[in-house]
Amino acid sequence: MGIRLRITVLPGDGIGPEVIAEALRVLRSVADLFGHQLETFSHAIGGAALREHHDPLPAVTLAACRTSDAVLLGAVGGPAFDNVAPELRPEQGLLRLRQELGCFANLRPAVCYPALVQGSPLKADAVAGANVMIVRELLGGLYFGKPRTVHGDVGSREAVDTMRYTEPAIERIARVAFDLARQRRCLLTSVDKANVLACSRLWREVVTRVGQEYPDVRLSHAYVDSCAMALAARPTQFDVILTENMFGDILSDLAGALVGSLGLLPSASIGGRIGLYEPVHGSAPDIAGQGLADPLGAVLSTAMMLRHSFQLHREAECVEAAVAAALDRGLRTRDLAGKNSRCVSTSEMGEGIAEAVCTLATPREIVT
Ligand code: IPM
Ligand code: MG
Repeated sequence: MGIRLRITVLPGDGIGPEVIAEALRVLRSVADLFGHQLETFSHAIGGAALREHHDPLPAVTLAACRTSDAVLLGAVGGPAFDNVAPELRPEQGLLRLRQELGCFANLRPAVCYPALVQGSPLKADAVAGANVMIVRELLGGLYFGKPRTVHGDVGSREAVDTMRYTEPAIERIARVAFDLARQRRCLLTSVDKANVLACSRLWREVVTRVGQEYPDVRLSHAYVDSCAMALAARPTQFDVILTENMFGDILSDLAGALVGSLGLLPSASIGGRIGLYEPVHGSAPDIAGQGLADPLGAVLSTAMMLRHSFQLHREAECVEAAVAAALDRGLRTRDLAGKNSRCVSTSEMGEGIAEAVCTLATPREIVT
């Protein structure tokens, strides 16, 4: 039986609209094939919203998100907004949205596709088989801690950001990570800076305590600096990485480079009633509007949406298999193509994946 998928779409800035168009093309083909009814409503966020509504998260956008089943977002930000007031920055729209939706758990899987092993900056045998799930705490730490100020006279000003974590906030994200580890290889690395930061010492203590409820999951702790090194040197040793907001922001970009391109990484921000799905890459203003952007992060974010917001596991797997098939066929956007290799445009990649969805899903779906 088909279901209704009511999705608020927030294309945002830079390459956001281009990659979201392809994600929706793929989502539509999956919905059609599996007999689901896709309803999308597009709204402004970030710089685009600032231009139209003088607010990076207009009330109408937030209201639309709240009344839908899930939110698909492209990217926010760009150099045009570098000089706006801090509270009006496009990024603030995204941070407020995460907060308003209560999305405290950000899942960022980084998978090394066999077809792309040669494209990694690491040696092929070091990266082959890498499959890491970064679980980033999304509503705490330096991103939201108060006070946050700049004061004093020019020349002698002082700026303050605050890293703050509560035990309940650490506990709830730890549970998400342990539960995920159970569905994977039962390995969890909790990443902190407990040799320096009070927040990290509390983090380590609480994660260890929660870990006692998961004796089947092998828990280890790593300092963030050493984890960054190990991730770059031996990514296959990791399964689930659990970490706080800022460390997760940084480590997930590193994970993107490892698997061939940041353009590949999807994310799911969950924990509230409504999930928010967005590629990890940013707005990439330097290549916006030229058909050069890699839509795979956005496309794979729709797979995460199907899985986490709608429990449509077969549909999610279909999207993921279609991405793998398109890569196997040799389709490469510029970020994935080697020097002098032929590349396809953003929309050609989207078309290729949508076609693969049809060939992959049709025989099985007709039979079952
Ligand atoms: C990300 C981005 C955001 C973040 C920015 C755009 C606010 O870098 O999703 O990784 O820092 O969380
Ligand atoms: Mg980031």
